Amino acid sequence: MAEEIIVVQGTGTLKGEVRVSGAKNSALKLIAAALLGQGRCVLHNVPQISDIDVMSNVLRRLGATVERQDHTLVVDTAAVDSYETPYELVSKMRASISVLGPLIGRFGRAHVAMPGGCQIGARKIDMHLLGLEKLGVHFDVKHGDLVAVAENGLHGAYITLDFPSVGATENLLMASVVAEGETTIDNAAREPEIVDLCNMLNEMGANVVGGGSSTITVQGVPLNTMHPCEHTTVGDRIEAGTFLAGGALTGGPLTVKGIDPSFLRMAIVKLESLGCQVDTAADSITVSRTEPLRATDIQTLPHPGFPTDLQAQFMLLTSLAQGNSVITENVFENRFMFAAELMRMGADITIDDHHALVCGVSALQGAPVSSTDLRAGAALVLAGIVAEGETVVRGLEHIDRGYENYVGKLAALGASLERKTIG
Ligand code: UD1
Repeated sequence: MAEEIIVVQGTGTLKGEVRVSGAKNSALKLIAAALLGQGRCVLHNVPQISDIDVMSNVLRRLGATVERQDHTLVVDTAAVDSYETPYELVSKMRASISVLGPLIGRFGRAHVAMPGGCQIGARKIDMHLLGLEKLGVHFDVKHGDLVAVAENGLHGAYITLDFPSVGATENLLMASVVAEGETTIDNAAREPEIVDLCNMLNEMGANVVGGGSSTITVQGVPLNTMHPCEHTTVGDRIEAGTFLAGGALTGGPLTVKGIDPSFLRMAIVKLESLGCQVDTAADSITVSRTEPLRATDIQTLPHPGFPTDLQAQFMLLTSLAQGNSVITENVFENRFMFAAELMRMGADITIDDHHALVCGVSALQGAPVSSTDLRAGAALVLAGIVAEGETVVRGLEHIDRGYENYVGKLAALGASLERKTIG
C-alpha cells in the first residue's frame, strides 16, 4: 500500500523567518462554539490541517455548513438540527468531545460517542461530566454513547476542577454561557486558547470574565441573545515553540512571526537555560545560539508552566546538550514514546515512570523512525535535520493533524527534506 514519508538530510541548517499558523487547539473549540451563535460565524487564521477537517465534518454532521476560503472558515450553524456525534468521528479526534458543551447549551441535550483510549494516556473526561452535572445535566451511557439531558434547563453553579483541564474548562464555558444565573469555574485552565474562546463567546453576546486566570465567572444569557461573530484565531504557540526548538538545535538565528511571546514565557526560560539567546518583539520571537547546548531540567505543567506539547521537541534539545537533564511529564501518562524513537538515533535516555533521564550525546545518527504522535512526529523531523546522514520519518498522518505545510516551512528555512510517496 502507498505510504507517505519525509526524507531528511542532516545538514544542520535551519534559519530565517517563519510565520506560524493559527492555533489548532483554539480553532477546534472556536468551531464548536459557533454552534451557540445559530448563524454564520466567520473565523480567520484557521490552520489548514486535518484536525480542522475532522471538526468541520463533525459540524456538518450536525447540520451546519462549513466552507473554507484559504485560512478563513465560514461556519453557518443556523440549520443545525441534530445533537448527535457518532463514534466514527469522535474516534478520529478526541477534541470532537468539545461539541458536548455547546450542544447541551443549544438543545438541552446531546448524544456524543465516548472518546476511546488514546496513545498518550487514559485521557478521561470525568471532570467534563462532573462539572456539567453541577450545571443540571444528567448523563447515561448507552451503547458507547454519552447521552446528556438537562431536563430542567441549565443553571449556574460553583465548580471546582480537580485539575485545570483544558477540555473540561472549555466544555463548561460553552454550556454555562447560556445557563440561568452565575457560574464560577475554579481551578480553571489558563491556556491562551481558553482566553481566545472566552473572547469569542463574549463577541457572540456571552458575559464571561476572568479568562486566563484560575477563576472564570460567567453570567448566563438567554440562548436567543447569542449571535454569530467574526473572530481571528490566536497564533499557534506550540507550532512556534517547535520552530524555536529547531532554531535552538541548529543555532539559527530563527524568527517565528505571528505569535505573542507572552504565550511562551516558560519555553523561552528553558531555551535560555539551554544556552540560547532569545529576543522578543510584539508579534515575534528570535532564537540563536553560539555556545554548546547545556543540560537543563524540565517539568511539564498546565499553563503558564512548560507545555506538555513541547516536551518531545525539548527532549530532543536536551539529548544533544552537555550534561544530564531530567524531564518530568506531569500532564499526560505514557507521553515518552518519542524517547524510544530518539534512542534509535543514538540518544541516551532512561525512562522511570513519568521521569526521563537524558544524558547528552555529541551527535545523533540518521535512521528510519516513526511518529508516535503529533508532537513526536514534528520533533523527529527536527532530529533528522541535525543528525548525521539521512533520516526517514513515517507516520505522517500524525504530523498532518497539527502542522500546516511543515515540510514547506522547514524547507523555506533552509532544511533539506522532501515528502515522498513510496510503495
Ligand atoms: C488539550 C490539548 C492538548 C494538550 C492538553 C494539555 C486540545 C485539542 N488538546 O488536551 O494538545 O496537550 O490540552 O495542555 O486542545 N483529565 C482527566 N479528566 C478529565 C479531563 C482531563 O483525568 O475530565 C486528565 C487527562 O487525562 C490528562 C490531563 O487531565 O492527563 C490534562 O488533560 P486536558 O487539560 O483536559 O487536555 P485536553 O483538553 O485533552
